[in-house]
Amino acid sequence: MCGIVGYVGAKDCSEVLVSALRKLEYRGYDSAGIAVFENDKIRIAKEKGRLDDLQKRMDAEGVPCGHIGVGHTRWATHGVPSAVNSHPHRGGKNVTLVHNGIIENYKELKETLKDLGRTFVSETDTEVVAQLMDFNYMGDPVQAIARTLSVVEGSFALGILFADRPGELYAVRRESPLIVGVAEGESFIASDVPAIIKYTTQYYLLEHDEIAKLTFDGVSFCDLEGNSIEKELKVADWDQEAAEKGGYEHYMLKEIHEQPTAVKTTITPRISDGVPNLEECSITPERLSDINQIYIVACGTAMHAGMIGKYVIEKLCKVPVIVDIASEFRYRDPLIKEGDLVVIISQSGETADSLAAMRLAKKMGAQTLAIVNAKGSSIAREADMLIYTHAGPEIAVASTKAYMVQISVMYLLAFEMAYSKGLISEEECRRLTSELVGTSDKIEMTIGLVEPACKVFAQELTEAENLLYIGRGLDYALSMEGSLKLKEISYIHSEAYAAGELKHGTISLITEGMPVIAVATQNSLLDKTISNIKEVKARGAKVLIVCDDEAQISDDVADAVIRVPKIEECLMPMLAAVPLQLLAYYASVLRGNDVDKPRNLAKSVTVE
Ligand code: M6R
Repeated sequence: MCGIVGYVGAKDCSEVLVSALRKLEYRGYDSAGIAVFENDKIRIAKEKGRLDDLQKRMDAEGVPCGHIGVGHTRWATHGVPSAVNSHPHRGGKNVTLVHNGIIENYKELKETLKDLGRTFVSETDTEVVAQLMDFNYMGDPVQAIARTLSVVEGSFALGILFADRPGELYAVRRESPLIVGVAEGESFIASDVPAIIKYTTQYYLLEHDEIAKLTFDGVSFCDLEGNSIEKELKVADWDQEAAEKGGYEHYMLKEIHEQPTAVKTTITPRISDGVPNLEECSITPERLSDINQIYIVACGTAMHAGMIGKYVIEKLCKVPVIVDIASEFRYRDPLIKEGDLVVIISQSGETADSLAAMRLAKKMGAQTLAIVNAKGSSIAREADMLIYTHAGPEIAVASTKAYMVQISVMYLLAFEMAYSKGLISEEECRRLTSELVGTSDKIEMTIGLVEPACKVFAQELTEAENLLYIGRGLDYALSMEGSLKLKEISYIHSEAYAAGELKHGTISLITEGMPVIAVATQNSLLDKTISNIKEVKARGAKVLIVCDDEAQISDDVADAVIRVPKIEECLMPMLAAVPLQLLAYYASVLRGNDVDKPRNLAKSVTVE
């Protein structure tokens, strides 16, 4: 996730910007840059790679010297990581800016600006905003910002310098976060508190469509019409470590809360004209419609994301999908045929078994498609086709937001493939895609709705030795992930079972008071699942049902019910995953475990 900083004050601006950017490194990035007013001219330094690479470049070419400027760490979404795609970007002769977020309509805007004679040097959506801002600039920064914001769509936070205003720094945001820090004789902008906490604990939270103006005399705020705004000064009482967790007690909880943004950032660039478009990832409709057999190969949570993919792809695209555990796949002589598609899913892109499985699949003549979060990782580099998920860095060992974006990509793939094969109409494809886009807000809503109930029910789980997760269809696929999440961080033994399979053996494990978490979001299977729930209830199980907010559940079936908003049935795992993640999280907290670093586990498993 990109990070923005800005500084106005007596200190050496470049030094402050780089040091503030270092505190945003935890967000992940692949390039960095700064722009500083030096003798009333804006000087830019930017480089692909780490901040140390930027520093080396500046040491070689001369560090920009001044007292007002902006800085940026970029997590590539539009265009490869490179110096030219790095921020800051110039637009014409007036504007230099940094940007965090996504401009959804940048392609249309770029075409219009090209028709107006504007030329572009990068592949980014950010340069389009810079050019547009420059086009709109007639000497009044607020007006230029307002005109620009009246046409751009998407989420963004911007730090802006106007070449003819060397004593001013402007900032504005919509959706993407931005704060304005203040201290004696100096002020800052930043994407997050850790960037400025070394310099000040006092800050303002910039709201949607509010403009901040920072000068050597202080900061002021106005709306897009230029009306001034009084804002409440906030004081951060965090230490550095707490600040990096954004005030959350653990990275896992922070990452659960980051899911709405992660989903939006992952899917928005892959939708054009209302339907999925994966051509940028070398996946053309022709290529998709030719596929007759798919293998999804991964480990742990990533493999569970593949299970969701299997159900959705088979249902919509009528293509058989085999989901394989990478460590099994690589040693079981899989029956890969030339032209089969092997999809490797991996957060880290470095998991040894997944990498080996991919190499084997390539050797056997398969087309490989990697769905990877970590930029430039081995799996990403070696795959034939690549879809990056844009979850930003996931620090907690227990994967949450990476899972969420992996399943969002499964849906994109399924919708596009079904459409390419003529199995769904354009109208249906648009409807499903729009429902998928809507999940970002619904995940946010779900977190707010279910978190209190999860805290309460987690208490019951902490006393259990064993429990079961049950479900049918997609609910079964999701139950696998719910069970893994609980096991790995709470150390409570659990299994996920297909609800209809219990009576073939596992139901003998049910004893009085044993918790059973039943996921029942698939309306078409609800009656069947309820029958299975009654079977365990009759044997003494304490049942928690996770279902949608319209499901008819009678009181005698469940001991507790957690409801999530009802959306398109096939997309329900994206909401139902949230309570399962939160139950595991709170069970772990209540047991006093090291939530972010569970025993015996590593974030990236680079050994067999
Ligand atoms: O980096 P990867 O996605 O390839 O990792 C695969 C698994 O090790 C991983 O998903 C693991 O199961 C999770 N940490 C569980 O939360």
